[in-house]
Amino acid sequence: MTGTTKTIHGEWSSRFAFILAATGSAVGLGNIWKFPYITGENGGGAFVIVYLLCVALIGIPIMMAETMLGRRTRQDPINTMEQLTEEAGADKNWHYVGWAGVSAGVLILSYYSVIAGWASAYVIKAFTGSFSNANAEAIKGIFDAFIGSPMQLIFWHSLFMAATMLIVVRGVSNGLEYAVRHLMPGLFGLMILLLGYAMTTDGYFQGLHFLFNPDFSKLTSDSVLTAMGQAFFTLSLGMGAVMVYGSYLTADISIAKTSVIIAAIDTIVALLAGLIIFPIVFTHGLHPDSGPGLIFKTLPIAFGSMTGGWLFGILFFLVLTIAALTSSIALIEPAVAWLVDSKGYTREKACIASGLVTWLLGLGTVFSFNIWSDVKLFDRTFFELLDYLTANLMLPIGGFAIAVFAGWIMKRQHSEQELNMPNAQYYQLWKFLICYVAPAAVFLVFLHVVGVL
Ligand code: PFF
Repeated sequence: MTGTTKTIHGEWSSRFAFILAATGSAVGLGNIWKFPYITGENGGGAFVIVYLLCVALIGIPIMMAETMLGRRTRQDPINTMEQLTEEAGADKNWHYVGWAGVSAGVLILSYYSVIAGWASAYVIKAFTGSFSNANAEAIKGIFDAFIGSPMQLIFWHSLFMAATMLIVVRGVSNGLEYAVRHLMPGLFGLMILLLGYAMTTDGYFQGLHFLFNPDFSKLTSDSVLTAMGQAFFTLSLGMGAVMVYGSYLTADISIAKTSVIIAAIDTIVALLAGLIIFPIVFTHGLHPDSGPGLIFKTLPIAFGSMTGGWLFGILFFLVLTIAALTSSIALIEPAVAWLVDSKGYTREKACIASGLVTWLLGLGTVFSFNIWSDVKLFDRTFFELLDYLTANLMLPIGGFAIAVFAGWIMKRQHSEQELNMPNAQYYQLWKFLICYVAPAAVFLVFLHVVGVL
């Protein structure tokens, strides 16, 4: 199929463009907020080693598989799974993998956009000097008042969704590629600037130590499973985003090489985020393990009191907003591509329909922080339930299914042809990882999240 089918959506103009787009999808809230925090809690360097192993042994093989499936058909995830199932003469039910992926994207974006809206609001708060000389209590007051106001959260959620859809509606070349070409260099540049600042703080070495000191005594079986879950979320795996980005990839580009590069950049960005956040936290005698509040409740205290904090506060939340934006366009693209491919919608109509559904769903997350904060199902608010359902269940199950499909269902000659590795041993290695290591590991994560293990 390679080279014979054309996508109707357009293609990445080069290998570099694909790397930028896939990296943009990978680098997001997961890297800048979650990775530093969970690393700190799970033994620092020891956790980083396990995480790197997960990225290498599970993340990269599954990323290769997802890209390969998408590129083979040049279609959205649902049609991709349908066509490839037919090609392999397999059970029709495999197309549910595509459905689950498209749905997971919409569900994740519905809450991702609300949190990204917080980041955008904090750019303005930093700019208007809300944090200047504020103590911990005042900063907490600002945060609580903000998330307690449905109108404010709806405003920022709407703005973020609108920005996402305005990019997506312009298509692959003029929208997605144009956006990542302009936003990603800015993101890297700002991060380097922030790192430069962090290196001048008194707490830099303490931060370095916290992040890289391998304290194996803190490493539990739980940490290993957390590292695996994080590898999935951060690489955007298991939900068709990588598949749909792969479908816009030309046949001449090496899937293996690009996957390794994307995973490496994503990991470097996560480490950079830790190297920026922890030194600032330590310099100001703050606590690194404050969870979801770390970025919104702790860092502003530091920005409010440090030299240049006004500018660095603005830059930090800008980085977070940009990172979230280049991820959110990847979250909605599978749904948009499917509406165009299968329902015959124009791209505009597809964007309005999928954007509206996502926006509406997002209201549930907005309200779960205020007027619905007491409404709980299985002891979780709407937002917590959605987060659990998508990140902990849908992505691992999707990843497992993709690994099994690529390893066991797809004909060997097809995956061999599509991956087109220069060396037979590389292909053997991938085949071993995708057939045995990745499914077994993901199965363990799954057992863990449902509480069996
Ligand atoms: N990888 C993103 C992050 O780390 O924040 C989250 C994400 C984006 C997941 C796109 C899935 C996806 F398709």
